[in-house]
Amino acid sequence: MDQAFGLTQMLAAKVARPATGTKAVPVTLRQADGLLTSVPMAQRGCRTIAVAGGKGGVGKSTVAVNLGMALAAAGKDVILLDADTGLANVDVMLGLTPARHIGHLLDGECTLQELLIPVRDGLQVVPAGSGARRLAQLSPTEHAAIIRAFDSLAEVPDFLLIDTAAGLSDTVTMFASAAAEVILVVCDEPASLTDAYGLSKVLSRDFGVRRLRMVANMVRNEGDARALYQKLARVCDRFLDVTVELVGFIPHDERLRQAIKRQAAVVDAWPSAPSSLAFKKLAGTVDKWKEPERAGLDRISFFAGRTAPVGEMPR
Ligand SMILES: Nc1ncnc2c1ncn2[C@@H]1O[C@H](COP(=O)(O)OP(=O)(O)OP(=O)(O)O)[C@@H](O)[C@H]1O
Ligand SMILES: [Mg+2]
Repeated sequence: MDQAFGLTQMLAAKVARPATGTKAVPVTLRQADGLLTSVPMAQRGCRTIAVAGGKGGVGKSTVAVNLGMALAAAGKDVILLDADTGLANVDVMLGLTPARHIGHLLDGECTLQELLIPVRDGLQVVPAGSGARRLAQLSPTEHAAIIRAFDSLAEVPDFLLIDTAAGLSDTVTMFASAAAEVILVVCDEPASLTDAYGLSKVLSRDFGVRRLRMVANMVRNEGDARALYQKLARVCDRFLDVTVELVGFIPHDERLRQAIKRQAAVVDAWPSAPSSLAFKKLAGTVDKWKEPERAGLDRISFFAGRTAPVGEMPR
């Protein structure tokens, strides 16, 4: 389908088909956010990475924020999209008090550009803020509208990081499957492993995701990270059609907790803390990832230039 045609069609469908249990919500994105540019982010050199994990409290937001900081400190341009509806939102973590949030974007009250909050050189945040509740109930049309809004940004960042919520909601799976890469944050608890496996299963079986990256969080050392990775990789290899690759580990570090209490990122507050060093190493690894090759996808994504017919998203 022609890209512009797909986009126009999508925006013409002003009212989303409601997901089960949610009500239809009008999508009235401003033209500036939907129609002007519409060249997919990836075609303009942006790498999109969703940070997910299934279980709550495993460190998804911590990894998203600090990886973003570390990439920015290394000279990259980063946008961090807060798609996390949990208590510790990115804006809370960073001490931001956003006046507008994603709900305003969906209501056409502001453009995506106007939502961006600069946090430091090279890092801007799209806050969930009090729009978080709205984010938890995104319809496929709204989800697509948010993704396409990124295509319209005048300046495309090097990285778009997406901090996703806990659980297996449509919002989580839609953002994770729309990104070129998914980092699963896993810690050494049975529930973290089973939830990470559950998310891997849905993403591979229902969304055709074939590669996942894993970051072991709150572990003591590399040996523990590898042991944890083996547990997940073994079941994924055996039962799923997806490859999981260990790409880094973040040690348990009190400095990290202290930084969060101060509403700062540990890489800024304590640059030589063990977790800061780990995040810098992870940023170096991530920066070496090749550009995604995912042409031929038939779903809404940050890198395919076309949109799947609304209502026909894989579920
Ligand atoms: N490596 C670490 N060392 C010490 N504490 C950590 C580490 N990683 C995360 N934490 C702490 O764990 C708690 C949960 O982290 P975080 O909010 O990032 O998890 P989450 O997965 O985003 O949770 P939610 O599912 O609620 O969004 C926070 O208090 C954070 O400071
Ligand atoms: Mg979180």
